[in-house]
This record gives sequence, C-alpha cells and structure tokens, in this order.
Amino acid sequence: MNLTHLECPRCGATYEAGRLQNLCRCGSPLLARYDLAAAGRAVDPDRIAGRPPDLWRYRELLPVADQAHVTTLGEGFTPLLPAARYGAHIGVPRLLVKDEGLLPTGSFKARGAAVGVSRAKELGAERVAMPTNGNAGAAWATYAARAGLRATIAMPASAPAITRQECLVAGAELHVVDGLIGDAARLIAGVRGVFDVSTLKEPYRLEGKKTMGYEIAEQLGWRVPDVIVYPTGGGVGLIGIHKALGELRALGWIGERVPRLVAVQSTGCAPIVRAFAAGARRAEPWEAATASVAFGIVVPAPLGDELILDALYGSGGTAVAVADHELLADLREFGAREGLMLCPEGAACLTAIRRLRAEGWLGAEEEVVVLNTGAGIKYPDIVRALDSGGGVEGSDVLGSGTAGTP
Ligand SMILES: Cc1ncc(COP(=O)(O)O)c(C=O)c1O
Ligand SMILES: [Zn+2]
Repeated sequence: MNLTHLECPRCGATYEAGRLQNLCRCGSPLLARYDLAAAGRAVDPDRIAGRPPDLWRYRELLPVADQAHVTTLGEGFTPLLPAARYGAHIGVPRLLVKDEGLLPTGSFKARGAAVGVSRAKELGAERVAMPTNGNAGAAWATYAARAGLRATIAMPASAPAITRQECLVAGAELHVVDGLIGDAARLIAGVRGVFDVSTLKEPYRLEGKKTMGYEIAEQLGWRVPDVIVYPTGGGVGLIGIHKALGELRALGWIGERVPRLVAVQSTGCAPIVRAFAAGARRAEPWEAATASVAFGIVVPAPLGDELILDALYGSGGTAVAVADHELLADLREFGAREGLMLCPEGAACLTAIRRLRAEGWLGAEEEVVVLNTGAGIKYPDIVRALDSGGGVEGSDVLGSGTAGTP
C-alpha cells in the first residue's frame, strides 16, 4: 500500500493513516496522501488496462493494505457514453455522459461506500453511522452488510422511499427523522460507540469517489476533457475528481492540462454558487433551503465548502444553479434523444451546460463530461412530476445550518 499519512488541507497538520480518524483538530476534513513515486514504480497505465473492470484496478492509489479487506459488489468502470444527438441539439456535440446509475445500489455512492467500508473494516470499526439524504445511506448500509459490519443510518422521511428499503434489506438500524438532514445529523451525533462516517468526516469515502476521475482519464486514453460538470451537494465527487486528476498529473500519466470543473446546484439551495459568485473562500450556510427533485444536491452547509471552491477556482471552473422545471424538461429531452433516463441530479447538469453554452462560457468544440450520478429509475416520482407539467409537489423547507450526508 502506498498510503503514507492523512493531511489537513487547511492547517497542514498531519495524522497517522493507520487508525480510525475523523476531522482535523481545526475542523477541516482530512485528505489521504500517498507515496506517488512508489505507486508510479509499482504500476502504469498498461498494467491497469489488463485488470478487471472495477475501481480496484487502481489499488496502488487506494487506501486498503490487505486485499482480504476489500469489500466489493463489482463497483466501478461505468460507461462513458457519447451523447452526440442531444449534444448537437444544445450546441455541444462532444458531450459525454458517465453513467453512474449502473453501479451497485444505483448511484455513485457505491464507490465511496466500497472504499470507505473496506478501510473502516481494515482499521477495526464494527459499526458505522451516518445521516443521509438517501443514496449514501443505502450504499453504506449495503456495503457494511457485505463486510459484516453493522450500520446505523438516519434519514429524513422525505428522502426517496427506495433508499429506506435498501437500508432495511441490508439489515441496518434505520432512523427515519421527521425533519431535515440536519436533524438526522444531530441524531447520529448522539449515538455512542460508532464510527462516524458522515460526509467528509472520515477521509476514505473521498478516495472511493476520486476513482470517477481516474476512470474518465483512462476511458479517454489517459487525457482529460475540456470541462467536467458535476451535481454538487456535499461536493465529495467534485473534490475527489479534482484530487484524482492532481494525482495523475503528479504521476505524469495525463500531462499538465486541467479540465474546468463546474458545480451544479439547485436554485432553492445554492451555497456554493453564491460563494463562487462572490469570490469567497468559504460558503455561508443557505438559510431556508427548499426541496428539489434533485434531492441529493440539497445540502445547505457542506463541510467541504473550502475544498469545493478551491477546485472551482483552481481549475478555472464555475458554479450554476438550476430550477426543477428546467432540469425536468432536460431530463425528458435527453431521454427522448439518447434513450437513457438520467437521475434528476444528472439532468441538472444538462441545464447548466445549455446555459453555459448560450452564454458563451462553453465553446461549440469543447469536450464536456457530465456525471450522471444515479439511476433515473430510483426516482419513480419524477414521472409524476413530468406528467403534472414539472416541479415537485409541496416544496418543503429543508432548513439549514447543519452539514449532512447527501
Ligand atoms: C444522485 C446524487 N447525485 C449527487 C449527489 C451529491 O453528491 P456529492 O456529495 O458528491 O456532492 C448525491 C448525494 O446524495 C446524489 O445522491
Ligand atoms: Zn487542520
């Protein structure tokens, strides 16, 4: 294993990687650091190409020492699909969609759960606990069961119903909170004797999600696209892709070019978009957030705000907020032209691309990768929303001020 230590991106403190660890004492998330020179000696793109098509093909850049602790359901290496017909329709013919809906549990949360659970098991955790808006809880409950660990999950009653059922089938202790994700987070904070795996409160979920960045580079022949568009709630995927591409640059596998990263949020809860527009280093919590059909991106106070904003500024990217009626129209337009039912979070990215192209921020020749972070079929209510002309019934107030797991 080439993992060497954990490092705080805010204050520079370092921590031992060999024991269960949450935040830095300064309150920042911690990042896993590797001996990349050793990794580069141990493996190269040709060797990786011959390995099974899952995320463990990047094992020299992942934090599990003993392969016996790898907990897998076959996650990773999702297709990067050309979407030229829809792309041409919106003036971006070189549009590609990475379809994370094909992962176990139907969302990209499986990546973070596979690596996070594997490492937690390796370091001796017996029970993990997290608040969630749905998909993350479903994935962690599932992988915890697979690893023989126990899981305590708390989610709002308004989270997608299927994710509750996934937790129950996986034998998790499920708390349905009559409130908001902040209430779920408070409940979890009071549970003793568990390892807290809330978004970015442990360093290894990020390591699983960064493999989206490795795969995009590998699938393009070890190069990067011009732009990567990501539906951003807690921002773990965006931070992970940024970290992954930095590691690949350091390895010398992809050259020096940096794709512009775009964070997409909902108009009813857009703390990152607001902070980016103001040129701020941190994001203020979004007061009185309103629900969106894109449930996963409604996170009023993301713990990784600083890291998300760094990735946007550092890559020359941007941040865009979109409304439900727009993303639902794009979801339908995309389905009719490309034959894939995106999740609403993925569809939100299309709306953002359409707008950025119209404004000239995106050029007609640019190669753009969208992360479709989940399976559209996990959201049967979307169809009802389309039938009724768009929008989501009863936009609940989600509250704000507490970081949770989207
Ligand atoms: C389908 C989907 N997309 C995007 C997100 C946002 O993920 P992140 O925390 O990486 O920003 C979530 C989180 O719940 C999600 O379920
Ligand atoms: Zn620190």
